Formats: sequence, structure tokens, C-alpha cells
Amino acid sequence: MTSFRIGLLGAGAVGALHVTAAAGADSYEIAAICDVRREAAEVLAGPGVAVHTDHRRMIAEAGLDAVIVTTPHALHAQQVVDAARAGLHVLVEKPMATTVEDCSRMIEACEEAGTLLAVAHVIHFDPVAREARRLIASGEFGAPLLIAHRRSAHYDRDSRPAWFFDAVLAGGGIVLNVGTHGLDRIQWFGGGEIQRVSSVVRGREGMDVETDSLALVELANGVAASVVLTSRGVPYVDETDVVMPEVTLRVSAADGLLLLRDGAVTTLVPASPEHLRSAFRTQLDGFVAVATGRAGEHVGGAYGRSVVSAALAVYEAADRGHPVDVPRQAVTP
Ligand SMILES: NC(=O)c1ccc[n+]([C@@H]2O[C@H](COP(=O)([O-])OP(=O)(O)OC[C@H]3O[C@@H](n4cnc5c(N)ncnc54)[C@H](O)[C@@H]3O)[C@@H](O)[C@H]2O)c1
Repeated sequence: MTSFRIGLLGAGAVGALHVTAAAGADSYEIAAICDVRREAAEVLAGPGVAVHTDHRRMIAEAGLDAVIVTTPHALHAQQVVDAARAGLHVLVEKPMATTVEDCSRMIEACEEAGTLLAVAHVIHFDPVAREARRLIASGEFGAPLLIAHRRSAHYDRDSRPAWFFDAVLAGGGIVLNVGTHGLDRIQWFGGGEIQRVSSVVRGREGMDVETDSLALVELANGVAASVVLTSRGVPYVDETDVVMPEVTLRVSAADGLLLLRDGAVTTLVPASPEHLRSAFRTQLDGFVAVATGRAGEHVGGAYGRSVVSAALAVYEAADRGHPVDVPRQAVTP
């Protein structure tokens, strides 16, 4: 079988996770890597992998079938459009873009080119989250009543590359970068699109982007949820409680999938560092399968846009000081 050739655009922290995920795959390979920092691309490139510093040259010269885009948020849109116009399939990291208009541009470019656009909401491929979603969707515990998501992320200048603190390149701070994971979980577990948001957003002294936020969201199906994002990062917390009539399911980075019932806690799936690696691999397997016309799973562009819309509504609601409605994307999470 001819290998499906993938170019990686952005050789940073998450680019490295995609390279690891592709290692050992039979039907696809990372064939080229592009980064404006040549040395970063060289570190990730194995033998025979072409290194580029200009994504348009990589797209033109590397004989690719697809690209994975893992660059700063505001760069995603044009890079995806350039790849689509060259007939390439695209897997783009979350958040899909920094504006809804850019998300639409990306969707249209891939539709026009007839190529696949997948958004790397990797939690959809995580074994703990998938089991939670399966149990919720089975209906055996009743429909969700509400969802509480809480995440701490170290959001100081020394915590991550400088572009994350540039309001234009990053498009925002903890809400767009980290909160999109929570907004995604709420839609996916809650089984509906976010339609209304109230929020408070705070930035610490000397920061151009927000670092802390509280949001209350309502899904179109009536499920209500909270998203609490705080910036100290220690102790690390990443957990989502889905409250149902019979039980609460807790999806927790530290503890795995917990069933809370009658004052007792049962671990359904223990946490494991292996889950993240396997989620990236399953995500990539699904992307290549769908791109090559085989059965597989991916998270599509319209869904990615719904998450960006919800995150931007958090900013708007905080600015206005009252709840805002989120334009419907007509997606079924
Ligand atoms: N799925 C997840 O769990 C997860 C986790 C962290 C980050 N992310 C997302 O992944 C993306 C990348 O984040 P990261 O933490 O890897 O950032 P990073 O800063 O480590 O990597 C970004 C890379 O892009 C390169 N770059 C910048 N401009 C470029 C250009 N014009 N052309 C080519 N390369 C360019 C930078 O030099 C850098 O190496 C972001 O969208 C981020 O939100 C996803």
C-alpha cells in the first residue's frame, strides 16, 4: 500500500505529540516538517523527512496528501486555506481559528477543494472520555441535568511560548486556549450545542490576555453547565462532572472515569499516562481513514467552529456584562 504522506506544520510541543503518534503507522507517515524555527523542525524530523521553513514551499514541494497544522492560533486559517487550495486534507489543532469568519473560510476552502477538514479535539479519542460519552448517551442513568467543568492551567509568562500571551496571535488567553477543551467536553457530553453564555473574564496585572474566567452556559437541549478556568496550575485540576438523575460521572485527568452514587465512588476507568498517546494515535488513524475513503472517525470543521463561537461568546458576554446568544452551527455533538 502506498503511504499517505503528511506534512507537519509547526514543530512545537503538540507537533511532537503528532510525530510520536504517527511513528510505526503502516499506511501513513510524517514525510515533511515545517517550522519558522528550522532547528525545531530538524529535531523532530527523522531520517528522510524533508525540513522546511516556509509552509507554502513545503506544500508545493513535498508531495503531500495532507497537513497537520499546529502553529499559533491566528495562523491556522490561512495555512489551512493554502493547504486546501493545493488539494491537501487537513487536521488542524484546536482552537480551529480565532474568529468565526476564519473558521468559515477554512470550511469553505476544504469543501471547494473536496478535501477533509478535521479539528484536533483530541478528547474525542481519549478512552476515559469515550467511555463517559458512551455511558451518558446510552441513557441508562437518565439525561444529564447539569455539567460542571473545572480546569487549572499555569498561565504565567514563563509557563509557555511567548505567542500564547500575544492577544493577536493567540486570539485570547485561557478561554480560547484551554477553555475550548472544556466547552468541547460540555457540548460532547451534554449532547447539544451551546446556545447562551454568561461570563466573567479576568486578566492578571501586566498580561495582555485573560488568565482566569467563570462562565455559565446553556445548551440548546436545556442542559446547563459551568466552566471555571483558573491560572495557577497547581495543584493541576482537569475534571468534568456530568450530573444525571441516578449518578454523577466524573471525568478527571488525575483519577480517570469515576461513578459517584449513593455517597460511594467507583473507578470505571483508571487514569493512565498512556491514554494521551493513544488518543493522538486514534485521532490520526481516524483522520487518515476518512481522508482515504475508509470507515473512521473525525471531528469536523462545523463542530470546531461551534467551539470557537462559544469561546468568543465568553469574551462578548464578559464585555457586555450580560448573557449573549451563540449563533447556531447546526452541529450534533
Ligand atoms: N490538543 C491538545 O491537547 C493541545 C495541547 C496544547 C496545545 N494545543 C494546540 O496546538 C497548537 C500548537 O501549540 P503548541 O503548544 O505546540 O505551541 P508551540 O509554540 O510549542 O508550537 C508552535 C510552533 O509553530 C511554529 N510556528 C510559528 N509560526 C509559524 C509559521 N508561520 N510557519 C511554521 N511554523 C510556525 C513555532 O516556531 C512553534 O515551533 C495550538 O493550536 C494549541 O492551542 C493542543
